[in-house]
Amino acid sequence: MTYDLTVNGTAHSVDMPGDTPLLWVLRDGLHLTGTKYGCGIAACGACTVHLDGEAVRSCQIWLEDAVGRPITTIEGLGTPDTPHAVQAAWVQHQVAQCGYCQSGQIMQAAALLAETPSPDDATIEAAMAGNLCRCGTYPRIRAAIKTAAETLKG
Ligand code: FES
Ligand code: FES
Repeated sequence: MTYDLTVNGTAHSVDMPGDTPLLWVLRDGLHLTGTKYGCGIAACGACTVHLDGEAVRSCQIWLEDAVGRPITTIEGLGTPDTPHAVQAAWVQHQVAQCGYCQSGQIMQAAALLAETPSPDDATIEAAMAGNLCRCGTYPRIRAAIKTAAETLKG
């Protein structure tokens, strides 16, 4: 059976079982490999994408439940020429180390700032708590979020 999805503003028809996790639909079905697999049990945040504009763990969303709902992945957040403010701040602060967790971190941060344009430290901490980084880039993540917030305010 095929399912119709809208990913990064583009319509796709996906022929995969309805209970396929969205993570694998994106990576294997649509070859959008910026979204990463870390744990598969909603414990790491590496697979974070936006669904209906909210940050979700794509390893926990079934294909059939994503039909008709706009999906944004790291590939659709910005472009190298016109990066999202969060992506630009990530570059400015040189946040990434190995990089594996970073698309999830960026998608989580972008959703946070869309909902809370001027988050305080506690709000940032709470919003980002489920996104793990084995390289320990947390201080640079926090700094980049504050820079992005200033950019978006301006
Ligand atoms: S792979 Fe989805 S939260 Fe870890
Ligand atoms: S940058 Fe390596 S896991 Fe986060």
